[in-house]
Amino acid sequence: MIDINKIRTDFPILAREVYGKPLVYLDNAATTQKPQCVMDKITEMYSTVNSNVHRGVHYLSQAATDKHEAARKTVQRFINANIPEEIVFTRGATESINLVASSFCRSFCKEGDEILITAMEHHSNIVPWQIQADIRGLKIKVIPINKDGELIMEEFEKLISPRTKLIAATHISNVLGTINPIDEIIRIAHSHNIPVLIDAAQSVQHAKVDVQKIDCDFLVFSSHKIYGPTGVGVLYGKEEWLNALPPYQGGGEMIESVSFEKTTFNKLPFKFEAGTPDFVGTAALATALDYVSSIGLDNIAEYESDLLRYATEKMLNLPGIKIIGTAQHKSSVISFVFNKIHPYDIGTLLDKMGIAVRTGHHCAEPLMKIMGVEGTVRASFAFYNTKEEVDMLVKGLERIIKMF
Ligand code: ALA
Repeated sequence: MIDINKIRTDFPILAREVYGKPLVYLDNAATTQKPQCVMDKITEMYSTVNSNVHRGVHYLSQAATDKHEAARKTVQRFINANIPEEIVFTRGATESINLVASSFCRSFCKEGDEILITAMEHHSNIVPWQIQADIRGLKIKVIPINKDGELIMEEFEKLISPRTKLIAATHISNVLGTINPIDEIIRIAHSHNIPVLIDAAQSVQHAKVDVQKIDCDFLVFSSHKIYGPTGVGVLYGKEEWLNALPPYQGGGEMIESVSFEKTTFNKLPFKFEAGTPDFVGTAALATALDYVSSIGLDNIAEYESDLLRYATEKMLNLPGIKIIGTAQHKSSVISFVFNKIHPYDIGTLLDKMGIAVRTGHHCAEPLMKIMGVEGTVRASFAFYNTKEEVDMLVKGLERIIKMF
């Protein structure tokens, strides 16, 4: 059970006002708010152990290293990776995908090879592959979706060819909220010996993700979307894959030895962590994951799907509304348009009522084209949102409809 009153007091920003009105924060797919314990951890790290990790024999450096490596173990447990070495810290999900795209394609792709993605990918799971396609003459193929925003699985298997080298798919669409059947995607891909990368940026905060159970080869997510600090991300990779990939960036800590003639590289996970990592951020991410675990992902999933049901029902009563993304399995995101009102105008007017939503193409321009819209308004919910806030959104939209 979610104790909503207690939870809301954990997030100080939720008590603030904007334009003299209580803040209604419904832009959680863009970034989530931070509980006090995460902010306290950042202060604690700088106040008590700040020192560069993996580099010093002195007390503080070792203490900071311990916190950073403990954070790696927390992430390992959170997604049930086999060993902590399978967790690489990056700057975010975007950097994690760029790392895999660059290192994987460098080693495993030749001209004419193919990468398979889905029609609902965020730009961050399109453009890194396009960059590699340009460099190496690869082809990008796209798994289509139906009008509800669900993958057409019959088409998926038809797109696989002997040249398919990797499948990169989002777990949950940031625009449509569609929860993709990743177990099935991975099972089919593996039956053709093709590795799969899962973009879990929109899923790990909403439901339990177990990398051993789903058997993905790579999985990425961002700290800031799961109540942790900005600037930190995670790349999970199966040990054998991470060992097989060449380094992404060069620099300190990722080496074993360097001479002007030749460099040998460090072992996992350090091979992929060039430069000083954000060890304050990783420790605070671990605090965020512990916080989420203390509430329980099953409780979160149940609460949020109830909120989604309530919001969908209420919003469908609004005259002229069209919800973009009506998949059977959906996460707590509602994208919508009204015939005659531009999404930007709706977002701006809601903002003046204290209601924060996102408007535009949501970094998924190809998907907008497929769904036949230029952009949408998107309300995305977290477990600290309430039915009263949904009511405020609906009232706000009713006022806007009257104005136009
Ligand atoms: N990917 C983030 C969003 O969907 C920024 O808003």
